[in-house]
Amino acid sequence: MALLIKGGRVITASDDRVADVYCEGETITRVEPSIEVRSLPEDGAGVEVIDATGKFVFPGFIDPHVHIHLPFMGTHAKDDYESASRAALVGGTTTLIEMVCPGPKDEPSAAFDEWRSKAEGRAAVDYSFHMAAVRFDEPARRQLREIVRAGVASFKVFLAYKGALNLNDADLFDLMAMAKELGVIVTAHCENADAVAAMQDRLIAAGKTGPEWHEPSRPTIVEAEGVRRITTFAQLTGAHVYTVHTSCEEAVRQAVEARLRGVSVWVEAVVPHLTLDRSFAERPDFEGAKYVMSPPLREKRHQDFLWNAVRGRDIAAIGTDHAPFDFRGQKEMGRGDFTKIPNGVPSLQERIALVYTHGVAAGRIDLHTFVDACSTQAARIFGMYPKKGTIAVGGDADLVVWDPSWRGVLSQRTSLSRVDYCAFEGWPVQGRATVVTVRGEVQARNGEFIGTIGRGRFIAREPTHF
Ligand code: URP
Ligand code: ZN
Ligand code: ZN
Repeated sequence: MALLIKGGRVITASDDRVADVYCEGETITRVEPSIEVRSLPEDGAGVEVIDATGKFVFPGFIDPHVHIHLPFMGTHAKDDYESASRAALVGGTTTLIEMVCPGPKDEPSAAFDEWRSKAEGRAAVDYSFHMAAVRFDEPARRQLREIVRAGVASFKVFLAYKGALNLNDADLFDLMAMAKELGVIVTAHCENADAVAAMQDRLIAAGKTGPEWHEPSRPTIVEAEGVRRITTFAQLTGAHVYTVHTSCEEAVRQAVEARLRGVSVWVEAVVPHLTLDRSFAERPDFEGAKYVMSPPLREKRHQDFLWNAVRGRDIAAIGTDHAPFDFRGQKEMGRGDFTKIPNGVPSLQERIALVYTHGVAAGRIDLHTFVDACSTQAARIFGMYPKKGTIAVGGDADLVVWDPSWRGVLSQRTSLSRVDYCAFEGWPVQGRATVVTVRGEVQARNGEFIGTIGRGRFIAREPTHF
């Protein structure tokens, strides 16, 4: 089946032009000022024509930081690949990268197989993985090498979550040396696990047990220290690093300073930190638990800093850190002890509408920066470009037709994620994806999933640097 998207304003990270986009099979084969249906093979019989007049045509958006299968803090995240695919696609995300997060005693290969088996046959979105290294003994080293050979060109490390996911400094250093040798980038959750654990103990002992104490238990300096440490190790080993869900000015400044020292570091921000602040976690009646994530929501001043850093490209990519835990029964596990609230604020479906509304429509970033941060950079940094992340002949026909005049509100009622709340309930948004294609097939239209479960494909990635 061929697809012709006519008359839209085609926006990439660097171009802006009115053009027609023609896709044959899974691939974009022509991008031209005007393509007449009659000029197509068999006079265009069988070609699906989509009128994009007055709309934008963006490359399919890529979410580089998603949790779907996630055993974490004594429970399991709510989504599976079916619900996550629906949510992603309706929102305009056509490719996601999920974190494989095994426990400290698990075999990496077994974990990788487990995560892959959850996606195969159930994904409608294209997907890849970051492989978390939560131990680094000899079997783990060997298995991580095999996983890279299987097409996973990025590791994940946690400097946080003491006793659960964090890697000690000696192992971290060795892992980064191996990552450099393999040409694999290291994505990193940067918070000092020991400092957080000590601060949590102090607060709980003082009777400070509500969700509003989550942020004080891991202040900005704790995150800045993590970024300082990972970039120092990157400088020493030559590894490339990517700081995930970077939440505050102090942490971004550490990364920028490291880049000025020659370190290959990229910074990710996530939607909750760009749009929510710590007052949400201070909401009464335990409502604040919905907004407990790590690093925590910060004081409002950090939002402006983060947006300016996106505009100035000091922040390369915007993801979600989608980590869906119900309020009822899951977040509630932390009533009386905030350290037991499963961490996470879901936003897989809402990401693009929120970045468009609070970024582009609010005048904080232009359309090119929007596309770059929400698609192109993730493709480049993680080895999927130019198959994904742009609109060009030869690329995958992952496209989003976007109606900038649409107005609506976000709500749990229209959420396709399985979680029982929407962190942005009632928030107005501007613009929505009216047509979303993955490799040439329409998967979502006007807020509805109309695609095929199981069509999503694992994107094997090659190492990006040596
Ligand atoms: O709060 C968060 N971020 N939950 C998911 C796990 C992680 O740290 O990314
Ligand atoms: Zn994290
Ligand atoms: Zn995460």
